[in-house]
Amino acid sequence: AEPLRIGIAGLGTVGASVVRMLGQKGTELTRQCGREIVPVAVCARDRNRDRGIDLGNAHWFDDPVELARSPGIDVFVELMGGEGDPALSSVRAALESGRHVVTANKALLSRHGVELAAIAEKKGVLLNYEAAVAGGIPVIKTLREALVGNTVSRVFGIMNGTANYILTRMEAEGLSFEECLKEAQRLGYAEADPTFDIEGHDTAHKLSILTSLAFGCRISADDIYMEGISNITQADIRAAAELGYRIKLLGVAQKTESGIEQRVHPTMVPTSSVIAQVHGVTNAVAIETDMLGELLLSGPGAGGNATASAVIGDIADIAKSRPGFQHGPVFGRPAKELQPYRRAR
Ligand code: HSE
Repeated sequence: AEPLRIGIAGLGTVGASVVRMLGQKGTELTRQCGREIVPVAVCARDRNRDRGIDLGNAHWFDDPVELARSPGIDVFVELMGGEGDPALSSVRAALESGRHVVTANKALLSRHGVELAAIAEKKGVLLNYEAAVAGGIPVIKTLREALVGNTVSRVFGIMNGTANYILTRMEAEGLSFEECLKEAQRLGYAEADPTFDIEGHDTAHKLSILTSLAFGCRISADDIYMEGISNITQADIRAAAELGYRIKLLGVAQKTESGIEQRVHPTMVPTSSVIAQVHGVTNAVAIETDMLGELLLSGPGAGGNATASAVIGDIADIAKSRPGFQHGPVFGRPAKELQPYRRAR
């Protein structure tokens, strides 16, 4: 079979890991997908930076929109981040040009996901975004595919590795908030703007995507009640511990009689609960359904290789798909049929 030609925009922590992993696992991926996956083009801000990766003969683009439209690629892999341009314009350009898209961009999808899904569905291409929520945990596939017969009543969990890392280190080592944040940044977990991690925006972006998948509604990130962890002190952590609790930054979405409730805030969870045992950069997403009761998925929620794992899974799905095959809708049901978002009173 013809190789699958991918163009990668963004060579930060995740982009570099994707390139490295494709190199290391090329033979096995080719065996499993029945065709080779080749990064034929890349685009990043700094052409000269040493990323410790071998870009082979990949063609360098300075403009991600130009790369997105290039007839030389089959898949546009967007790893630049940010809810606006150039991520938005390039993903739009790729879909409009009939290219499949793989993205890890939760901010983009939480704002423009439904519009982009509508374009992908009209063009008959895939828009895959497993890496956008909870890093390496396959929560999108779980909600969209595995649980398709279920009615979901609640989704909640720890969806920001940086915030959970900070809370864990503050509790276990008695370190200050600032020290822990610096560590998380050094380890490559934090967003370019870490206020997104610590003030709850990043969790809200991810939660809004899960809410849409879980409840078949349009995405509404503006509706989320949001409070971050920047005011949490050692005294708070100690007081919680004395009462038998840990503080975790949770995202919660549930269906009520009057509509959907979505919130993100520091929450006291009993020390003996499973969610309290989720430490460090690990994320955990709980899904409650009629057929299953409660399912809990946990695993690495941030970092280059964990996130690259999800990106590569998404690319492999495209490599395995065959021409003429009808793809499932991006958010579980056709974008046009997503219910209006109805907020709980
Ligand atoms: N900054 C994010 C986190 C990366 O810490 O969870 C994964 O989305």
